[in-house]
Amino acid sequence: MILFTDQFKIFFDDLSLKQIADKCLRISLEAFNVNNGNIPKWTIALDELKAIPKGEIELNGPYISIDQNSEDPKILVSAFKKLLPWRKGPFMFNNLKLESEWQGDLKWKRMKNHITPLKNRRVLDVGAGNGYFTLRMAMEGAKKALGIEPFLLFNYQYAAIKSLVDKEINAMLLPIRLEEMPKSAIFDSVFSMGVLYHQRNHMEHLFQLKEMMLPGAELILETLVVEGPKGYSLTPEGRYAQMRNVHCLPSIDTLKSWLADANFNNIKVVDISKTSPQEQRRTEWIGDNAASLEDFLDPSDPTLTKEGHPAPTRVIIICNN
Ligand SMILES: C[S@@+](CC[C@H](N)C(=O)[O-])C[C@H]1O[C@@H](n2cnc3c(N)ncnc32)[C@H](O)[C@@H]1O
Repeated sequence: MILFTDQFKIFFDDLSLKQIADKCLRISLEAFNVNNGNIPKWTIALDELKAIPKGEIELNGPYISIDQNSEDPKILVSAFKKLLPWRKGPFMFNNLKLESEWQGDLKWKRMKNHITPLKNRRVLDVGAGNGYFTLRMAMEGAKKALGIEPFLLFNYQYAAIKSLVDKEINAMLLPIRLEEMPKSAIFDSVFSMGVLYHQRNHMEHLFQLKEMMLPGAELILETLVVEGPKGYSLTPEGRYAQMRNVHCLPSIDTLKSWLADANFNNIKVVDISKTSPQEQRRTEWIGDNAASLEDFLDPSDPTLTKEGHPAPTRVIIICNN
């Protein structure tokens, strides 16, 4: 069991979060209680890390870094390799660089100067992966940064990282889907990054995000888009860039109209970027023979995916409730 109820109590010991604490705890306990054949291996990884001294968490260039003043990375490597693949990061432990598939720092840099500073804000990070960004939000001074991520492995990765940190940080990751969250408008900033295109019903996702937001709160929405006029969206048949479960890629004007229909205000496009092989790359930390962006694109025309769709372009939109 990786959800320590004492940590949970400390995190939720805040008047406005108490309203959702009990339900979040119940859903999380159920989620961790599944019959998943990998749990014994992931648990061994967490047990191995108990031998490692804790250290201070800080930023070191693009890395979230934890320095334990210990030279031998053998235990760290052994534990972290049991938790492959590392999609989100990068992290650094002493001199060991855990190069994740995604160079998360690049996305953070694209949005950081456009968002309302997170200091003292209650932040919800929906579809948080292993919590790389949730931790960065806490490191920016968020009062609370709650990440929700249904994929269990990512919750174990987060537990592994957090077990090495020497002091309490205002971040927590729970294995909860947005639609399972107790409805409560308590967050000042809500992030949905890389999640919208995985939803069967995009409007439902936008309404669910809105339900978690205080009046005037900020939504930071990052998602895949395609070129086209208002009203246009691409619904890939089969895979998109080898990803399953990609349901709908709107044009930017279509996406803005969805946000307006969901009654969001001050809708601003702050960044449009093509995903580069520097940002999404094959590394030893995603496992042998695992594929990444370069394998998803048409080798004769990298402006197209292997399925013939436009190569990934992502937008960041900021708006208010
Ligand atoms: C592409 S990843 C993005 C991770 C991270 N936010 C980032 O920007 O790098 C999308 C994540 O959203 C999670 N996810 C998908 N649907 C979700 C939902 N309804 N509620 C919460 N998380 C969800 C997936 O499990 C996946 O880990």
